[in-house]
Amino acid sequence: MQGISGMLQLGLLLGLQLGLEVALPPPCDSQIYCTGELLRQVQMAKLYQDDKHFVDMPLTKDPDQVLSDFNELFNSSGGNISRDLLKTFVNEHFKDPGQEMETWIPEDWKASPRFFQNISDTRLRAWAEDLHNIWKKLGRKIKLDVSDQPDRYSLIYAAHPFIVPGGRFIEFYYWDSYWVMQGLLLSEMAATVKGMLQNFLDMVKHYGHVPNGGRVYYLQRSQPPLLTLMMDRYLAYTNDLAFLRDNIETLDLELVFWMRDRSVNISHKGEHYVLNRYHVPYGGPRPESYSKDEELAELLPEDARESLWTELKAGAEAGWDFSSRWFVGSNYLLDIKTSQVVPADLNAFLCQAEELLANFHTKLGNMTMAQYYLEAQAQRKAAMKALLWNETLGSWFDFHIETRKQNHAFYPSNLSPLWAGCFSDLDTVRKNIKYLEDNKIFTYRHGIPTSLQISGQQWDFPNAWAPLQDLVVKGLADSGSAQAQEVAFQLAQNWIQTNFALYQKNKAMYEKYDISIDVAEPGGGGEYEVQEGFGWTNGVALQFLDRYGNLLTSRSGPMLPSTSWLLLALLLLDLLC
Ligand SMILES: *[C@@H]1O[C@H](CO)[C@@H](O)[C@H](O)[C@H]1NC(C)=O
Ligand SMILES: *[C@@H]1O[C@H](CO)[C@@H](O)[C@H](O)[C@H]1NC(C)=O
Ligand SMILES: *[C@@H]1O[C@H](CO)[C@@H](O)[C@H](O)[C@H]1NC(C)=O
Ligand SMILES: *[C@@H]1O[C@H](CO)[C@@H](O)[C@H](O)[C@H]1NC(C)=O
Ligand SMILES: *[C@@H]1O[C@H](CO)[C@@H](O)[C@H](O)[C@H]1NC(C)=O
Ligand SMILES: *[C@@H]1O[C@H](CO)[C@@H](O)[C@H](O)[C@H]1NC(C)=O
Repeated sequence: MQGISGMLQLGLLLGLQLGLEVALPPPCDSQIYCTGELLRQVQMAKLYQDDKHFVDMPLTKDPDQVLSDFNELFNSSGGNISRDLLKTFVNEHFKDPGQEMETWIPEDWKASPRFFQNISDTRLRAWAEDLHNIWKKLGRKIKLDVSDQPDRYSLIYAAHPFIVPGGRFIEFYYWDSYWVMQGLLLSEMAATVKGMLQNFLDMVKHYGHVPNGGRVYYLQRSQPPLLTLMMDRYLAYTNDLAFLRDNIETLDLELVFWMRDRSVNISHKGEHYVLNRYHVPYGGPRPESYSKDEELAELLPEDARESLWTELKAGAEAGWDFSSRWFVGSNYLLDIKTSQVVPADLNAFLCQAEELLANFHTKLGNMTMAQYYLEAQAQRKAAMKALLWNETLGSWFDFHIETRKQNHAFYPSNLSPLWAGCFSDLDTVRKNIKYLEDNKIFTYRHGIPTSLQISGQQWDFPNAWAPLQDLVVKGLADSGSAQAQEVAFQLAQNWIQTNFALYQKNKAMYEKYDISIDVAEPGGGGEYEVQEGFGWTNGVALQFLDRYGNLLTSRSGPMLPSTSWLLLALLLLDLLC
């Protein structure tokens, strides 16, 4: 303990000397993985190409010992530790990342799930087999030592094995898992899905919410809330009501977190509305991107840095890290103000969760709770209609709390209320299609772009992401409009051909794609190299192959006069009918 209190004193001393105020708590208590001088020294020395490497390394000794050894090194070098000594120190006190997990072949994996038979194009069918095989590469199980000696790991113990995204993302992630689970259910792997659900439910019981991912440095931020929807999809496949009954209160608890810690009051035209936002009031640079956050902050006066760091964390909580969506007043990361944005997708996800929870409670015979959620949803819909919907433009938008204005830039997330089934009348569907047309989205033949702005960030043009294709395609496909269904199919076809073409070329699936060039390429930009794997991309591809298996083709046919003209014609037809 002497080590820790020594470190604290030292930290305080340094803090006082530099005139810093320690205003906000760090993302976790660990003096190694979340805050403190050791973390700062190692990350700022850039011992590894990716800052995530260091904070994923398990300890070879107890944390107290590691800290007191570091303290000694720090004292003996007068606070100026050479890079070589630092490297030696890390080699002696830490192990390489990844050893705390083992690859796990899901027990419920079996060859040739039934739906493959419905894929007419033989090349696409063979590809679906490959995607199904990749689950065996992405399965992970956490070793028991992580449970026995949690202090020696940044990994959060989860009792059940899971599927990871891939690449640098070697642990579980929250919102990724929804699309992974959709794919797993098509692969007839409900037992794996149940285990992943149990892990998330355990997190809610333990921490009150599902963390962003399975590491202590992710603890104080969540990710887009899709846990209730995951449960719904699992139930649709298994009808496992006993599992629902056992866990319904935990699902309720997650909603309490979002309403207690992530809501915001907005008065507008004499009415009072409550909606949700991403907000992470915890200080310091993100441990897994420490040097980048520190260097960015150095461009600001000292008293503005903590605020920048909270907004970066909130951007990570949004799942869109990073994007012009969160920038207020410029196209630059320094102007990130995530917590000042009321996001269309977050509120759509919660609107859907409220509806599903009302259904769940009805099934279980708790009409009081069912009524509570229906009222909450009605209030949310009224708020979304008043603040996020724009009748002229025919879409929902993010709303800026400070400027009290909608952000009218194009993002696929603007259509998420349709995807969530929160609003689905035919008039809305028709306006949404016109909105896509007005933004010339149908002229992008390789996928729906994340935005139309180039910011250098990965959640902007020219990148396209699998979950965002689903947000648009499923919303339109499930609507009652034949025209919307035709549009949805065309968009799914474009995306499948992009994924397939690059798979043929590189034998890999990516987290994101560059859709601005005619030859499909992996995406780029942002904080790290593009990653392969890739959980949610595979999940969405399997979903499209399932829905349109009899229609999809692996090769782009002769181009129609122009997809957008065809769609415009369909739209006119629809307006006339
Ligand atoms: C490091 O220096 C501080 C302040 O001089 C002292 O309190 C502490 O005991 C020293 N720690 C070690 C491990 O030498
Ligand atoms: C730290 O030590 C290096 C040599 O090891 C030296 O070049 C550098 O100036 C020192 N920095 C400070 C702040 O004393
Ligand atoms: C295959 O397609 C048929 C006809 O559309 C459908 O009835 C059946 O459910 C599909 N099978 C699977 C496993 O998706
Ligand atoms: C919103 O306003 C209501 C009523 O005035 C209040 O009870 C609630 O605490 C406020 N919530 C937030 C997040 O400010
Ligand atoms: C409904 O759920 C609430 C919250 O979990 C609980 O307090 C109440 O007893 C339940 N009522 C019934 C009828 O099950
Ligand atoms: C909707 O968009 C139009 C056109 O940009 C704008 O004039 C109007 O103020 C917007 N409405 C709302 C409610 O923001």
